[in-house]
Amino acid sequence: MLVGRGLLGRLPELAPLPCHVALVMDENVAPLYGALVAEAIGRERVLAVTVPAGEAHKTLETVRDIYDKLLDARLDRQTTILAVGGGVVNDMAGFVAATYLRGVAFVTCPTTLLAMVDASVGGKTGVDVPQGKNLIGAFMQPTAVIADVDTLATLPPAELSAGMAEVIKHGLLAGGVLWAELGRLPWPLPAERWGDLVATAVQVKRDVVQEDPFERGRRALLNLGHTFAHAIEQVSQYAVAHGPAVAMGLACAAHLSAQLGHCAPNLPTDIEQLLTRCQLPTRIPAHLPAEALLAAMGSDKKKADGRLRFVLLRTPGEAFLEGDVPLAAVRETLNSMSKAQ
Ligand SMILES: NC(=O)c1ccc[n+]([C@@H]2O[C@H](COP(=O)([O-])OP(=O)(O)OC[C@H]3O[C@@H](n4cnc5c(N)ncnc54)[C@H](O)[C@@H]3O)[C@@H](O)[C@H]2O)c1
Ligand SMILES: [Zn+2]
Repeated sequence: MLVGRGLLGRLPELAPLPCHVALVMDENVAPLYGALVAEAIGRERVLAVTVPAGEAHKTLETVRDIYDKLLDARLDRQTTILAVGGGVVNDMAGFVAATYLRGVAFVTCPTTLLAMVDASVGGKTGVDVPQGKNLIGAFMQPTAVIADVDTLATLPPAELSAGMAEVIKHGLLAGGVLWAELGRLPWPLPAERWGDLVATAVQVKRDVVQEDPFERGRRALLNLGHTFAHAIEQVSQYAVAHGPAVAMGLACAAHLSAQLGHCAPNLPTDIEQLLTRCQLPTRIPAHLPAEALLAAMGSDKKKADGRLRFVLLRTPGEAFLEGDVPLAAVRETLNSMSKAQ
């Protein structure tokens, strides 16, 4: 993976793009960067495919539209699928690359912070179906990942903050230099500082994925804050977006760790201050009741004294999987983290 500034304009030097290129972007990214990328590669080699923006369009219908455009243009197996966009485009274009003519080359250029530090690493691609998110997909490793951090300049501030929730998660998993760096991070971050931060943050996921490519062990640590976050997203009927939900989830995981005596009592406060500085929420909206959140976490399927599995923290840099968390402790955390408190 290459992280830096001004990379989109230099794509042919940086990524293998022989023959034809199917350039997949969404309707927000296409007008911003489509011309730059097509010029750099050479317009005669590029078939630009623009899809509607947003998670609601991460569907088999959109994938079908992309297949149609590629088939109509008679693109063959030498084609490279080039994704330029956020996680939605990355996941969908990657799935197309995995399946078009039984698989063609895939290059991805993440343009959101979340896609840079999370979605573009690990080789997971796919779409949502009415039964749930990301249920249909394939593992597909891109031949190159090019993260041009200059694209973050046009990203809406809320999307930048959402990506920071994952960066902070990576900081908590790694500790060390990244966590120290985050402790003195100015916000908003000056443009020249994004490159180093993204490169350090992405390395955390790369290291974990490399050790555990098929999610049999260590990769579970990447779920730090996510058991809470998924429940918050689900109970809010997705009114709370993933980034803010992860922020709340990280705060909850820290409180639960402190409550169970695993981490220092000041760690939750340190984490909350950092989240707040990055314009992220730390408290669960009061209208999402603890019981509904617990049910969403799957405790409803367990016995009355059911126990839950969480990623907890000892210190930044030392996360661990605890499979035996008492329900009462989780309930107490949820109650104390509700905004009404
Ligand atoms: N494959 C994985 O391992 C993995 C990991 C995490 C998340 N994901 C997936 O990623 C998706 C979320 O990704 P996301 O947060 O990037 O959302 P997104 O792709 O919807 O992008 C967010 C918004 O920003 C816009 N945008 C993108 N880049 C821009 C830029 N540079 N300037 C201006 N606007 C820009 C998009 O058009 C969109 O409206 C989810 O579908 C999630 O499932 C996948
Ligand atoms: Zn996440």
